[in-house]
Amino acid sequence: MSRFLQDKNILLGLTGGIACYKSAELARLLVREGAEVFVLMSQAAQQFITPLTMQSLTGHAVATDLFALSHELQIGHIRLADMANAYVIAPATADVLAKLSSGQADDVVTTVALATRAPLLVAPSMNVNMFEHPLVQRNVERLRSAGYRVIPPGEGELACGWHGKGRLAEPAVLLAEVERAVTPQDLAGEKVLVTAGPTREFLDPVRFLTNRSSGKMGFALAAAAWRRGANVILVAGPVTLATPHGVERRDVVSAEDMFEAVKQEFPRATILLMCAAVADYRPAARQNRKIKKQKAAWSLALEPTVDILAAVTPHKEQQFVVGFAAETEQLEASAQGKLQQKGLDLVVANDVSQPGAGMEADFNAAILLDRFGGHLALPLMSKIDLAEAILDRVIELRKRVAGT
Ligand code: C5P
Repeated sequence: MSRFLQDKNILLGLTGGIACYKSAELARLLVREGAEVFVLMSQAAQQFITPLTMQSLTGHAVATDLFALSHELQIGHIRLADMANAYVIAPATADVLAKLSSGQADDVVTTVALATRAPLLVAPSMNVNMFEHPLVQRNVERLRSAGYRVIPPGEGELACGWHGKGRLAEPAVLLAEVERAVTPQDLAGEKVLVTAGPTREFLDPVRFLTNRSSGKMGFALAAAAWRRGANVILVAGPVTLATPHGVERRDVVSAEDMFEAVKQEFPRATILLMCAAVADYRPAARQNRKIKKQKAAWSLALEPTVDILAAVTPHKEQQFVVGFAAETEQLEASAQGKLQQKGLDLVVANDVSQPGAGMEADFNAAILLDRFGGHLALPLMSKIDLAEAILDRVIELRKRVAGT
C-alpha cells in the first residue's frame, strides 16, 4: 500500500482545546502512514493532554518550551521549522488564530509557524459562537490570505453542550489534508471528472441487471487527483465506499443517469476518467410492478444503453479523455479498438480474469495504450498505486498534446 507520508517530517501543533484527544489519534495515523511526527504543545494544550501521551505515540520528545531543551531528544525550534515538510496546528483555538493572524510568536507553536517555509495547516475547534464571531472569521480569512490551509470545523454536538459548527475536523480528514500538503500539486487548476462503480438497470421495482464493479479503482483515482491538487467530481454508481475527502460526489443509478451527469459536467472538465463499468444493455421495458413468477421459462428483451464515452467525445475540446477496458480475452486488440472507436486519448486495459486482480479486488495490473501509439504495461499493484501511475501517464501525455 502507498504511504504518502513515508519519511516526511510532520509537525503537529496542539493548542488548548478539548479536541486535543483527537490529535492523539491524528498522531497515530500520521505515524502509521510512515511520517516522523514532531509534536509542539502550547501551555494550555498541556492542560488537556500530557506531552508524555504525544511522545509515546510519536517516539519523539515534545516541544513545549521555546528555550529549554531539557530532554536530549528534543530539537530546537528553528531546526524543527527547517526540517518540516508540513506543519498542522490542530486543534487551533480562537486565541492561536488571533496570534497567528497578527504574526505574534510568544510560544513554541506560534514561533515555529513563523519560522517555517513548510505548508501550514490550521484546524480550528471551539464553541460555535466563538467560531462565528466576526473577529475569529476575520482572523481565519487573514490566515487564508497569508497562505494557510484552513480546515474548517465540522458541525454537530460540541463538547461545551452547544450544537453547531466548531468540532475539530476528523483525524482521517486531517490526515488526507496533510497528505495533500506534502504532495506535488501537478494537477492544480485541473477539473477532473471521474466515473466509478457499476450501474443498475431495473426490470421492475426490485430487480436489476448490474455487474461486479466495486468502484474502488474510480474512488482511488478521485482521491489521487484531489491529493495532487485537482478539483474533482466523482459520478458514482451504487457502491458502498466512503466519499474521498475533498471530492464532490454525485450519485447515480442507471447508465442513463450517469450519461446525464457526465453530459452536464463534461464541458467544464479538463480530464475525464471514465472508470465506471457502465451496463451495455438494459431491459427493453421496465415494469412498474414486481413481475410475477411463472412456471414457464422467461427470456428478457434487452436494448443497448447509450455509450457515454462515444456520445461525449465528439464534443471534446480541452478535455483529455481516458477510457477503461475490462477484458477476459484479446486484451490489447479490444482496447486498441476502443481507443479508436470511442475517440479516446488513453485507454487503461485490464485483464479481469486474472485471479486477485480486477473487479472487486484491491489490486490490479493494466496496459495503457494511447493515441500516440504508446504502450505502457503496469504490473500488479494496489489500486491506490495504480491510480497514481495512471495520473502520471495522463500528465505526461497532456504535456505532449500541449507541445504538438
Ligand atoms: O465498450 P466497453 O463497455 O467495454 O467500454 C468500456 C469503456 O467505455 C469504459 O471506460 C466505460 O466507462 C465506457 N462505457 C461508456 N458507456 C457505456 C459503456 C461503457 O461510456 N454504455
